[in-house]
Amino acid sequence: MKIIVLGSSAGGGFPQWNCNCANCDRMRRGTLKAKARTQSSIAVSADGENWILINASPDILTQIQATPALQPGRYARDTGIAAVLLMDAQVDHTTGLLMLREGKPIPLYCTASVWDDLTTGLPLVPVLSHYCGVRWHPLPIRQDHLEAIELPGIDGIRFTPLALSSKAPPYSPHRENPHPGDNIGLMIENRASGKKVFYAPGLGEIEPHVEAAMRSADCLLVDGTFWSADEMIRLGFSSKHAADMGHLPQSGPGGMIECLDSMDAARKILIHINNTNPILDEDSEQHAALLRHGIEIAHDGMEITL
Ligand code: MLT
Ligand code: MN
Ligand code: ZN
Repeated sequence: MKIIVLGSSAGGGFPQWNCNCANCDRMRRGTLKAKARTQSSIAVSADGENWILINASPDILTQIQATPALQPGRYARDTGIAAVLLMDAQVDHTTGLLMLREGKPIPLYCTASVWDDLTTGLPLVPVLSHYCGVRWHPLPIRQDHLEAIELPGIDGIRFTPLALSSKAPPYSPHRENPHPGDNIGLMIENRASGKKVFYAPGLGEIEPHVEAAMRSADCLLVDGTFWSADEMIRLGFSSKHAADMGHLPQSGPGGMIECLDSMDAARKILIHINNTNPILDEDSEQHAALLRHGIEIAHDGMEITL
């Protein structure tokens, strides 16, 4: 099973179009040792031919161009994207669906609450009904037990969605009334080898069922949005703490580094990295600290095989 990181940045990408934080400014000037990154998405396949796109980023066209496997030449019009699965209904994870409108009806796997948002607050589904159309396959979310599913056309892989305690996006009609399934984590298992990756680009809290899933995974591909809880506030960019945005910061007691230190997974990788995060600077002490803890930082084009 192969996972390709199509986009390793949080919303806005890196550098962000209007941002002059130290990272974005120095990146543009060419004085920062760092990699540019597009917005959050991965592709997964067991046969190398049929890929599931997990999250459809606004940067999807650039990401497809950078990934030959997603653009096979079997027919006059062709794609390696056999289906799309969404972790939430956020702008950075969904608006790339509009860029797929020239294709066939999109097989879309998402929870009922994400589908609800995409038919109301962010009405991508009604818009796309005038182009290719979307075929919804509900992702089951159970509170009492976890249910692994297989997706037709994506052979050799089992997917287990986990409800994460979080909030729906700002435009959701149920923003102030959280539903299980507003945001999910996903266990992705290679059926042949039994190897598992736990993927959660938006992870605000390590709840007991999440911790158990993380402990059973061979590879963790998890929320790397912010280094510190008040990163956006200190820079004057937002009044929200990391937790208000559904992200667990890396540093500090109870932070992501401490959590990952307690895990045995062979690989621990941060993804969905915000452009303000000092770990993007490869000369920073925060970057070095992650490496000392055996934690990798995802970059666009990174491939994980397991
Ligand atoms: C988030 O996950 O908090 C997002 O990246 C926000 C956004 O897309 O604007
Ligand atoms: Mn995001
Ligand atoms: Zn910035």
